[in-house]
Amino acid sequence: MNLIIEPVAPKHFDGLRRALDTVAREKRYLAFTEAPSEKDCRAFYCAIVDNGWCQVVALLDGAVAGWCDVLPTHGQARAHIGTLGIGLVPSARRQGIGAKLMKAAIEAAWKTGITRIELSVRADNPTAKALYERMGFVTEGHHPRSFRVDGVYADSYSMALLGPQD
Ligand SMILES: CC(C)(COP(=O)(O)OP(=O)(O)OC[C@H]1O[C@@H](n2cnc3c(N)ncnc32)[C@H](O)[C@@H]1OP(=O)(O)O)[C@@H](O)C(=O)NCCC(=O)NCCS
Repeated sequence: MNLIIEPVAPKHFDGLRRALDTVAREKRYLAFTEAPSEKDCRAFYCAIVDNGWCQVVALLDGAVAGWCDVLPTHGQARAHIGTLGIGLVPSARRQGIGAKLMKAAIEAAWKTGITRIELSVRADNPTAKALYERMGFVTEGHHPRSFRVDGVYADSYSMALLGPQD
């Protein structure tokens, strides 16, 4: 398998939406339970590219197998904060690609002036939480009933990583 990790570009948009839809439809990990419409996804991905926000994709033999992004938060007083999201299609998991994606995205985020990265992870997703801890993220809070899928609640943790101060 040939793995390439690179910044998102328009040529990735369709594959990226397919990967998002695959992970979302598992209904166990993400806030989405299916991908937004093609139009909404395209607008979102275009905003990332046009604004130089941080999103990297993993290509396995040329096909988008996952992503990691660190996206801005609203408000000038929180402009130093990015929110991290990550996902890999099932066949791309357990090969160390998540860690590689995170390293690339975090490194790119620090370069844009971000000094704090936040994320939210379901309490029943120990694989992702362990990866975040390995990358240095610290748990800051426990959020009961913060996800609900098909009427079933799940708790989540908020985690954060502090980077170099500017
Ligand atoms: C979370 C996620 C991105 C982690 O990516 P990953 O590449 O599988 O992560 P890791 O490299 O840390 O590997 C995870 C597991 O594979 C194992 N692994 C890593 N590299 C390996 C390798 N080369 N060979 C065999 N196993 C390996 C790890 O030990 C770990 O095992 P564990 O879960 O039993 O502890 C991925 O599982 C995923 O996309 N999950 C669904 C979406 C999701 O949870 N997103 C995050 C929402 S907050």
